[in-house]
Amino acid sequence: MCGIVGYIGNEPSAPILLDGLRRLEYRGYDSAGLAVHSPGGVQVVRAVGKLRNLERALEERPLHGTVGIGHTRWATHGRPSEVNAHPHVAGPVAVVHNGIIENHVALRNELRAAGCEILSDTDTELVAHLVRREVDGGANLETAVRKTLSRLHGAYAIAVLSTLEPQRIVVAKNSSPLVLGIGEGATYCASDVPALLPYTRDMLFLEDGEMAVLEGSGATVTTVEGAPVKRAIQRIDWSPAMAEKAGYKHFMLKEIFEQPRALEDTFRGRLDRQAGDINGAEIGLTDADAADIKRVVLLACGTSHHAAMAGRYWLESLARIPTVVELASEFRGRDAVVGAGDLIIAVSQSGETLDTLVAAKEAKQKGAKVLAIANVIGSAIPRMSDATFYTHAGPEIGVASTKCFSAQLANLVMFAIWLGRRRDALSPERTRELVEALARLPQQMADTLNGTRQLVANLARRYVDARDVLFLGRGLSFPIALEGALKLKEISYVHAEGYAAGEMKHGPIALIDARVPVLVLVPRDDNYERSLSNLQEAKAREAMVIAIANEGDVDARDASDDLIEVAAVDPALTPFLTVLPLQLYSYYVADFKGTDVDQPRNLAKTVTVE
Ligand code: AGP
Repeated sequence: MCGIVGYIGNEPSAPILLDGLRRLEYRGYDSAGLAVHSPGGVQVVRAVGKLRNLERALEERPLHGTVGIGHTRWATHGRPSEVNAHPHVAGPVAVVHNGIIENHVALRNELRAAGCEILSDTDTELVAHLVRREVDGGANLETAVRKTLSRLHGAYAIAVLSTLEPQRIVVAKNSSPLVLGIGEGATYCASDVPALLPYTRDMLFLEDGEMAVLEGSGATVTTVEGAPVKRAIQRIDWSPAMAEKAGYKHFMLKEIFEQPRALEDTFRGRLDRQAGDINGAEIGLTDADAADIKRVVLLACGTSHHAAMAGRYWLESLARIPTVVELASEFRGRDAVVGAGDLIIAVSQSGETLDTLVAAKEAKQKGAKVLAIANVIGSAIPRMSDATFYTHAGPEIGVASTKCFSAQLANLVMFAIWLGRRRDALSPERTRELVEALARLPQQMADTLNGTRQLVANLARRYVDARDVLFLGRGLSFPIALEGALKLKEISYVHAEGYAAGEMKHGPIALIDARVPVLVLVPRDDNYERSLSNLQEAKAREAMVIAIANEGDVDARDASDDLIEVAAVDPALTPFLTVLPLQLYSYYVADFKGTDVDQPRNLAKTVTVE
């Protein structure tokens, strides 16, 4: 996830572009850059790291001109470095891009064969070269971009400048967001509304498959094929302050609601619905590697460990491969029995967690192969791993992990399906069924979030003063119960326990009385009947029982005090839905208590200490 911005008007463009990027920095801060039409042609300044580094670079090399584009990067193709930073330039053309071009390998080969000198590892530079080829062939910028778009598969929001047409910016959108701002004698573009709010509230939202030519006097919108589009300008009522978090009170709430988008991005190019299979190209293992694996060892900490626990369930049930899951902090230094034939999967949002890094290194030294599942491109764990299967959740700013957890689940289940198919543990029919069920998830998650938000907020208010809270689940719901308890602990400071529902009777049931809210996960899966019995056991001890069950579950409704209904999904995929109300519950309890939701006490987003 990156942020793009553009300005064409009569004011110096660099300060306006920088201000827009500041408001988009939540979308990524691996590097940033500007391209501005200057008297000598398009000039570019780029810098690695946060925006302040670009600001410093601009102090040394100021850009003068009233037309420009800018970018803040969350690296997806290629490590964070200046050469991979946007804007990317080819001849007279400069491009900024948010998204992922799926056919980048084929395009790179084609451009190389045609003699293009490609400097970066990015997919975006390829777009710049494609536009340049058209411009060199005599096309105007609009036509050149139009022709280029017909060659791209994947997600993009782009803004393009050409030295040859200094009074124009051409933009286009497919899957990635792009909004145009219409001001007095100035026209803007940006990845989202907040970037433009200080300048104009008159916005024009591009749809997928549309492009626009921006001039100081306004924007002309067409389809990519060239048909004119009439789009009404919308007046936005948001205040700039609200929009800092895109209208959400906290980053955590925003990130909870971003989960459908995070999944779409993580699935993109990997769910091959035509083949009814997982496209494993990015997993970095061959079919022969898949056949050679004797055992999988999942290593992770905190929330990532809970995702790994669900991963074990999937690897065993879908790929039929012996799997263990370990807390990285307990694995390291233990001289664990691990070696050749073992595939280590190191799961880490940040890719920097010291315990996970050290544990994975130890296993590698003993001859195991290491596959990283990480969200931060080029971070330490991917760098030391044999292969990395990235999640594409975008930058997660709230310390409490939410969207990255869902994206980790997505990669783990995709990997298990891929492996299961390769090892003949999954039939082609069941594989196709799962791929289709995964493709439906983003919409079902959006429906569940919107459908449960108010009820969950009401329950959180009712139980805000509870001193202890229990979360129960079996099978795939057990790690989700643990995750629900961890979320509540870390941001609301309430004592919470996650338990395997079947273990209650072996001790923890003694904790239950009429003051303890118990959240029980009872989705329709193989454990349904047993989980419902555990729910009834808690109810019989006078607990206040909240059931999280599938829509229309009359038995769960009758047995509990309150029912939170989530969309019905394939029984193998319930965690994607059941975790959502638990995240919302912890968020609202914390918000009602007035804690620092995004930066809870004593915690850090990335734990690089012993
Ligand atoms: C999650 O809400 C926590 N902040 C924490 O448990 C986190 O998941 C853990 O520190 C592991 O981080 P990682 O995924 O970056 O390795």
